[in-house]
Amino acid sequence: MHLRPYRNQDANAIAAIKARCDLADPLVLFYRRTSSPDTQQKGDDKRWRAHVKSTRRALCLEILMPGNVCWVLVLDDEDVEAINNHQNQQNKKPKHSSRTTNDETVAGFTIWSRFGSSDMARRWQGHGEKLTTRAKAFLSHMNLSIQYPFDSSIDRPRMAQFIRHLKTGPSPGPLEKERWELEAMYIHPLYQRRGFGGKALEWGIERAQQEDVRIWVWSTDAGKPLYLKNGFDEVGKVDFGGMIPDSEGVTVSVMVWGI
Ligand SMILES: CC(C)(COP(=O)(O)OP(=O)(O)OC[C@H]1O[C@@H](n2cnc3c(N)ncnc32)[C@H](O)[C@@H]1OP(=O)(O)O)[C@@H](O)C(=O)NCCC(=O)NCCS
Repeated sequence: MHLRPYRNQDANAIAAIKARCDLADPLVLFYRRTSSPDTQQKGDDKRWRAHVKSTRRALCLEILMPGNVCWVLVLDDEDVEAINNHQNQQNKKPKHSSRTTNDETVAGFTIWSRFGSSDMARRWQGHGEKLTTRAKAFLSHMNLSIQYPFDSSIDRPRMAQFIRHLKTGPSPGPLEKERWELEAMYIHPLYQRRGFGGKALEWGIERAQQEDVRIWVWSTDAGKPLYLKNGFDEVGKVDFGGMIPDSEGVTVSVMVWGI
Protein backbone atom coordinates (compact mmCIF):
# COMPACT_ATOMS: atom_id res chain seq x y z
CA MET A 1 0.00 0.00 0.00
CA HIS A 2 1.23 3.48 -0.70
CA LEU A 3 -0.09 6.98 -0.18
CA ARG A 4 -0.44 9.48 -2.96
CA PRO A 5 -2.02 12.94 -3.15
CA TYR A 6 -5.74 13.09 -3.96
CA ARG A 7 -6.76 13.65 -7.59
CA ASN A 8 -10.17 14.75 -8.84
CA GLN A 9 -10.87 11.33 -10.32
CA ASP A 10 -10.69 9.82 -6.80
CA ALA A 11 -13.86 11.66 -5.74
CA ASN A 12 -16.26 8.75 -6.37
CA ALA A 13 -13.98 6.21 -4.74
CA ILE A 14 -13.45 8.17 -1.52
CA ALA A 15 -17.15 9.10 -1.28
CA ALA A 16 -18.10 5.41 -1.61
CA ILE A 17 -15.56 4.49 1.10
CA LYS A 18 -16.86 7.09 3.55
CA ALA A 19 -20.49 6.19 2.82
CA ARG A 20 -19.72 2.49 3.45
CA CYS A 21 -18.01 3.30 6.75
CA ASP A 22 -20.96 5.54 7.73
CA LEU A 23 -23.24 2.49 7.67
CA ALA A 24 -21.46 1.28 10.82
CA ASP A 25 -21.38 4.66 12.56
CA PRO A 26 -24.33 5.18 14.94
CA LEU A 27 -23.73 8.93 15.01
CA VAL A 28 -23.97 9.33 11.24
CA LEU A 29 -26.98 7.01 11.10
CA PHE A 30 -28.70 9.32 13.59
CA TYR A 31 -28.83 12.21 11.09
CA ARG A 32 -28.62 10.45 7.72
CA ARG A 33 -31.45 8.72 5.92
CA THR A 34 -29.58 5.89 4.27
CA SER A 35 -29.63 2.17 3.75
CA SER A 36 -27.11 -0.43 2.70
CA PRO A 37 -26.61 -0.96 -1.05
CA ASP A 38 -26.51 -4.72 -0.31
CA THR A 39 -30.15 -4.94 0.75
CA GLN A 40 -32.87 -5.49 -1.81
CA GLN A 41 -35.65 -3.37 -0.29
CA LYS A 42 -37.56 -1.01 -2.54
CA GLY A 43 -36.08 2.50 -2.49
CA ASP A 44 -32.82 1.44 -0.82
CA ASP A 45 -30.78 2.01 -3.93
CA LYS A 46 -32.09 5.56 -4.27
CA ARG A 47 -31.27 6.35 -0.64
CA TRP A 48 -27.81 4.89 -1.01
CA ARG A 49 -27.09 6.92 -4.15
CA ALA A 50 -28.28 10.11 -2.42
CA HIS A 51 -25.99 9.34 0.51
CA VAL A 52 -22.93 8.81 -1.73
CA LYS A 53 -23.71 11.93 -3.78
CA SER A 54 -24.09 14.07 -0.67
CA THR A 55 -20.87 12.63 0.81
CA ARG A 56 -19.02 13.30 -2.43
CA ARG A 57 -20.13 16.92 -2.53
CA ALA A 58 -19.13 17.53 1.10
CA LEU A 59 -15.72 15.84 0.67
CA CYS A 60 -14.89 17.67 -2.57
CA LEU A 61 -15.54 21.00 -0.88
CA GLU A 62 -13.64 20.04 2.25
CA ILE A 63 -10.60 19.05 0.21
CA LEU A 64 -10.61 22.48 -1.44
CA MET A 65 -10.39 24.40 1.85
CA PRO A 66 -7.21 26.35 2.55
CA GLY A 67 -4.86 24.29 4.71
CA ASN A 68 -6.53 20.96 3.91
CA VAL A 69 -4.51 18.09 2.46
CA CYS A 70 -6.00 14.82 1.25
CA TRP A 71 -4.06 11.58 0.77
CA VAL A 72 -5.46 8.41 -0.74
CA LEU A 73 -4.25 4.91 0.09
CA VAL A 74 -3.68 2.82 -3.02
CA LEU A 75 -3.20 -0.95 -2.91
CA ASP A 76 -0.03 -2.41 -4.45
CA ASP A 77 -0.06 -5.71 -6.37
CA GLU A 78 1.27 -7.62 -3.37
CA ASP A 79 -1.56 -6.27 -1.16
CA VAL A 80 -4.18 -7.40 -3.68
CA GLU A 81 -2.53 -10.83 -3.86
CA ALA A 82 -2.38 -11.19 -0.07
CA ILE A 83 -6.02 -10.12 0.32
CA ASN A 84 -7.19 -12.49 -2.42
CA ASN A 85 -5.20 -15.40 -0.90
CA HIS A 86 -6.71 -14.69 2.49
CA GLN A 87 -10.21 -14.61 1.02
CA ASN A 88 -9.57 -17.80 -0.96
CA GLN A 89 -8.46 -19.54 2.23
CA GLN A 90 -11.74 -18.52 3.79
CA ASN A 91 -13.62 -19.73 0.68
CA LYS A 92 -14.82 -16.20 -0.01
CA LYS A 93 -15.01 -14.78 -3.50
CA PRO A 94 -12.18 -12.24 -3.94
CA LYS A 95 -13.60 -8.75 -4.06
CA HIS A 96 -12.19 -5.47 -5.20
CA SER A 97 -13.58 -2.16 -4.31
CA SER A 98 -13.29 1.55 -4.97
CA ARG A 99 -11.39 1.40 -8.24
CA THR A 100 -10.52 4.67 -9.93
CA THR A 101 -10.30 5.24 -13.65
CA ASN A 102 -6.61 4.27 -13.64
CA ASP A 103 -7.58 0.78 -12.49
CA GLU A 104 -6.04 1.38 -9.11
CA THR A 105 -7.75 0.16 -5.95
CA VAL A 106 -8.24 2.95 -3.45
CA ALA A 107 -8.49 1.40 0.01
CA GLY A 108 -8.95 4.55 2.09
CA PHE A 109 -8.13 8.21 2.54
CA THR A 110 -7.23 10.89 5.08
CA ILE A 111 -7.86 14.64 5.19
CA TRP A 112 -5.51 16.75 7.31
CA SER A 113 -5.94 20.40 8.12
CA ARG A 114 -3.18 22.84 9.12
CA PHE A 115 -4.29 25.63 11.44
CA GLY A 116 -2.19 28.63 12.45
CA SER A 117 -0.57 31.76 11.11
CA SER A 118 3.12 30.84 11.14
CA ASP A 119 5.03 30.85 7.86
CA MET A 120 4.72 27.07 7.77
CA ALA A 121 0.94 27.17 8.35
CA ARG A 122 0.52 29.82 5.67
CA ARG A 123 2.50 27.73 3.25
CA TRP A 124 0.00 24.88 3.71
CA GLN A 125 -2.89 27.34 3.43
CA GLY A 126 -1.68 28.60 0.08
CA HIS A 127 -0.71 32.05 1.36
CA GLY A 128 0.01 34.38 -1.53
CA GLU A 129 -2.75 32.86 -3.65
CA LYS A 130 -5.29 35.40 -2.40
CA LEU A 131 -7.86 34.91 -5.13
CA THR A 132 -7.82 31.12 -4.81
CA THR A 133 -8.08 31.35 -1.02
CA ARG A 134 -11.07 33.70 -1.26
CA ALA A 135 -12.77 31.49 -3.81
CA LYS A 136 -12.24 28.51 -1.52
CA ALA A 137 -13.62 30.39 1.49
CA PHE A 138 -16.68 31.32 -0.56
CA LEU A 139 -17.20 27.68 -1.52
CA SER A 140 -16.87 26.70 2.12
CA HIS A 141 -19.59 29.19 3.03
CA MET A 142 -21.84 27.85 0.25
CA ASN A 143 -21.19 24.34 1.47
CA LEU A 144 -22.44 25.16 4.97
CA SER A 145 -25.35 27.35 4.00
CA ILE A 146 -26.66 25.66 0.87
CA GLN A 147 -25.67 22.02 0.92
CA TYR A 148 -28.06 20.67 3.51
CA PRO A 149 -31.37 22.31 2.48
CA PHE A 150 -31.24 20.46 -0.84
CA ASP A 151 -29.80 17.25 0.51
CA SER A 152 -32.48 14.58 0.76
CA SER A 153 -30.19 12.19 2.61
CA ILE A 154 -29.75 14.47 5.65
CA ASP A 155 -32.33 14.74 8.41
CA ARG A 156 -31.65 18.41 9.19
CA PRO A 157 -33.34 18.72 12.60
CA ARG A 158 -31.40 15.66 13.77
CA MET A 159 -28.17 16.98 12.31
CA ALA A 160 -28.67 20.30 14.14
CA GLN A 161 -29.34 18.34 17.35
CA PHE A 162 -26.16 16.31 16.80
CA ILE A 163 -24.02 19.42 16.22
CA ARG A 164 -25.54 21.21 19.25
CA HIS A 165 -24.78 18.23 21.44
CA LEU A 166 -21.22 17.96 20.13
CA LYS A 167 -20.65 21.63 21.01
CA THR A 168 -22.03 21.27 24.55
CA GLY A 169 -19.47 18.59 25.35
CA PRO A 170 -16.74 19.32 27.91
CA SER A 171 -14.22 21.66 26.35
CA PRO A 172 -10.78 20.13 25.92
CA GLY A 173 -9.32 23.58 26.83
CA PRO A 174 -7.97 26.21 24.47
CA LEU A 175 -6.68 24.72 21.25
CA GLU A 176 -3.19 25.71 20.18
CA LYS A 177 -3.27 28.10 17.27
CA GLU A 178 -0.54 26.16 15.47
CA ARG A 179 -1.74 22.60 14.99
CA TRP A 180 -2.69 19.86 12.59
CA GLU A 181 -6.18 18.38 12.79
CA LEU A 182 -7.16 15.06 11.30
CA GLU A 183 -10.51 15.80 9.67
CA ALA A 184 -11.12 12.41 8.07
CA MET A 185 -9.66 8.91 8.33
CA TYR A 186 -11.49 6.16 6.47
CA ILE A 187 -10.40 2.68 5.44
CA HIS A 188 -12.86 0.63 3.38
CA PRO A 189 -14.36 -2.16 5.57
CA LEU A 190 -12.85 -4.78 3.21
CA TYR A 191 -9.36 -3.54 4.04
CA GLN A 192 -9.54 -2.75 7.75
CA ARG A 193 -7.20 -4.31 10.37
CA ARG A 194 -4.32 -4.70 7.91
CA GLY A 195 -2.24 -1.85 9.28
CA PHE A 196 -3.35 0.67 6.62
CA GLY A 197 -4.87 3.12 9.13
CA GLY A 198 -1.58 3.17 11.06
CA LYS A 199 0.38 3.80 7.84
CA ALA A 200 -1.97 6.63 6.90
CA LEU A 201 -1.36 8.28 10.27
CA GLU A 202 2.41 8.24 9.77
CA TRP A 203 2.30 11.15 7.31
CA GLY A 204 0.64 13.47 9.82
CA ILE A 205 2.81 12.35 12.72
CA GLU A 206 5.96 13.01 10.68
CA ARG A 207 4.66 16.47 9.70
CA ALA A 208 3.74 17.30 13.29
CA GLN A 209 7.19 16.19 14.49
CA GLN A 210 8.95 18.27 11.85
CA GLU A 211 6.81 21.35 12.53
CA ASP A 212 6.85 20.82 16.31
CA VAL A 213 3.06 21.02 16.69
CA ARG A 214 0.36 18.74 18.07
CA ILE A 215 -2.34 16.79 16.22
CA TRP A 216 -5.98 16.94 17.30
CA VAL A 217 -8.72 14.58 16.25
CA TRP A 218 -12.36 14.22 17.29
CA SER A 219 -12.56 10.46 17.21
CA THR A 220 -15.42 8.02 16.84
CA ASP A 221 -15.43 4.96 19.10
CA ALA A 222 -14.24 2.95 16.06
CA GLY A 223 -11.19 5.17 15.59
CA LYS A 224 -10.07 5.39 19.22
CA PRO A 225 -8.02 2.13 19.45
CA LEU A 226 -6.02 3.19 16.37
CA TYR A 227 -5.15 6.59 17.88
CA LEU A 228 -4.31 5.14 21.31
CA LYS A 229 -1.98 2.63 19.64
CA ASN A 230 -0.23 5.45 17.78
CA GLY A 231 0.57 7.68 20.75
CA PHE A 232 -2.54 9.86 21.03
CA ASP A 233 -4.01 10.70 24.47
CA GLU A 234 -7.68 11.21 25.22
CA VAL A 235 -8.27 14.70 26.66
CA GLY A 236 -12.07 14.93 26.53
CA LYS A 237 -15.21 13.05 25.65
CA VAL A 238 -18.78 13.81 24.56
CA ASP A 239 -21.34 11.20 25.52
CA PHE A 240 -24.21 10.66 23.07
CA GLY A 241 -25.90 7.94 25.13
CA GLY A 242 -28.89 10.07 26.13
CA MET A 243 -29.50 11.49 22.67
CA ILE A 244 -29.55 8.58 20.27
CA PRO A 245 -31.96 5.70 20.91
CA ASP A 246 -30.22 2.41 21.83
CA SER A 247 -26.83 4.03 21.78
CA GLU A 248 -25.55 3.60 25.30
CA GLY A 249 -21.79 4.12 25.33
CA VAL A 250 -21.58 5.99 22.01
CA THR A 251 -19.03 8.79 22.41
CA VAL A 252 -16.82 11.19 20.51
CA SER A 253 -13.36 11.37 22.07
CA VAL A 254 -11.04 14.33 21.76
CA MET A 255 -7.60 12.86 21.11
CA VAL A 256 -4.25 14.67 20.98
CA TRP A 257 -0.86 13.56 19.73
CA GLY A 258 2.28 15.30 21.01
CA ILE A 259 1.39 16.09 24.63
C1 LIG B 1 -10.64 3.30 12.43
C2 LIG B 1 -9.99 2.84 11.15
C3 LIG B 1 -9.47 4.04 10.36
C4 LIG B 1 -8.80 1.91 11.49
O1 LIG B 1 -8.12 1.58 10.29
P1 LIG B 1 -7.40 0.17 10.13
O2 LIG B 1 -6.67 0.16 8.85
O3 LIG B 1 -8.40 -0.90 10.35
O4 LIG B 1 -6.40 0.21 11.35
P2 LIG B 1 -5.05 -0.63 11.50
O5 LIG B 1 -5.18 -1.97 10.86
O6 LIG B 1 -3.91 0.24 11.06
O7 LIG B 1 -5.04 -0.81 13.07
C5 LIG B 1 -3.91 -0.48 13.85
C6 LIG B 1 -4.25 -0.81 15.28
O8 LIG B 1 -5.32 -0.03 15.76
C7 LIG B 1 -6.13 -0.84 16.64
N1 LIG B 1 -7.43 -1.05 16.02
C8 LIG B 1 -7.84 -0.63 14.82
N2 LIG B 1 -9.15 -0.96 14.62
C9 LIG B 1 -9.54 -1.63 15.73
C10 LIG B 1 -10.76 -2.24 16.13
N3 LIG B 1 -11.85 -2.24 15.34
N4 LIG B 1 -10.82 -2.82 17.34
C11 LIG B 1 -9.75 -2.85 18.14
N5 LIG B 1 -8.54 -2.31 17.81
C12 LIG B 1 -8.45 -1.69 16.62
C13 LIG B 1 -5.41 -2.16 16.82
O9 LIG B 1 -4.49 -2.02 17.89
C14 LIG B 1 -4.69 -2.26 15.50
O10 LIG B 1 -3.56 -3.06 15.55
P3 LIG B 1 -3.72 -4.67 15.39
O11 LIG B 1 -4.62 -4.91 14.21
O12 LIG B 1 -2.30 -5.10 15.18
O13 LIG B 1 -4.34 -5.14 16.67
C15 LIG B 1 -10.97 2.01 10.28
O14 LIG B 1 -11.50 0.97 11.08
C16 LIG B 1 -12.12 2.84 9.75
O15 LIG B 1 -11.99 3.46 8.70
N6 LIG B 1 -13.26 2.85 10.45
C17 LIG B 1 -14.46 3.54 10.02
C18 LIG B 1 -14.30 5.06 9.98
C19 LIG B 1 -13.84 5.62 11.30
O16 LIG B 1 -14.43 5.39 12.34
N7 LIG B 1 -12.78 6.42 11.22
C20 LIG B 1 -12.23 7.12 12.35
C21 LIG B 1 -12.83 8.48 12.35
S1 LIG B 1 -12.18 9.45 13.69
